[in-house]
Amino acid sequence: MDLATVNALSYEDFVDAFGNVVEKCPLVAAAVWSKRPFATLTALEAALGEFIDALPPSGILRCHPDLAGRDLRDGTLTRESSEEQAAAGMDALGSEEASRMSRLNEEYKARFGFPFVICARMNDKAAVLRQLSERRGNVREVEVTRGIEEVKKICRLRLHTLVLTDAPKL
Ligand code: GUN
Repeated sequence: MDLATVNALSYEDFVDAFGNVVEKCPLVAAAVWSKRPFATLTALEAALGEFIDALPPSGILRCHPDLAGRDLRDGTLTRESSEEQAAAGMDALGSEEASRMSRLNEEYKARFGFPFVICARMNDKAAVLRQLSERRGNVREVEVTRGIEEVKKICRLRLHTLVLTDAPKL
């Protein structure tokens, strides 16, 4: 849809359309609806970012499923997460990769109290495993900041699949 259509959406339709731009946090879309009209897609993105920053970061991070975790195995991921995890090859790990992923995910959660979040669309499985292994050594404050940066990247890519960009067509 284009931006004019976005700006004309009712509250319910807006939350239906954008409710999962932040994984399982429809509150973000709900809060941002009242800020319309958005002059540009960048303005919508900025409004979402501002509200993300106003929420408790560990709460947002905890709304994310593990990469290659139980929800993937059970088929209970959101459509967006399922597509992203597949794009990073999380649905096609070898058995050794899968057990390494699972062990590192558990270690990460035990250390920080929230799951490892990374923009899966921007990484392949080797990069995901490398980042997970590296980032689990960070201090909590750094990881909270990193995780939220990744949430914003995920949000941006999800938004761009839903809204046509403002760039003029050449
Ligand atoms: N990166 C993209 N989507 C997801 C997700 O659903 N969970 C986690 N942990 N990282 C992601």
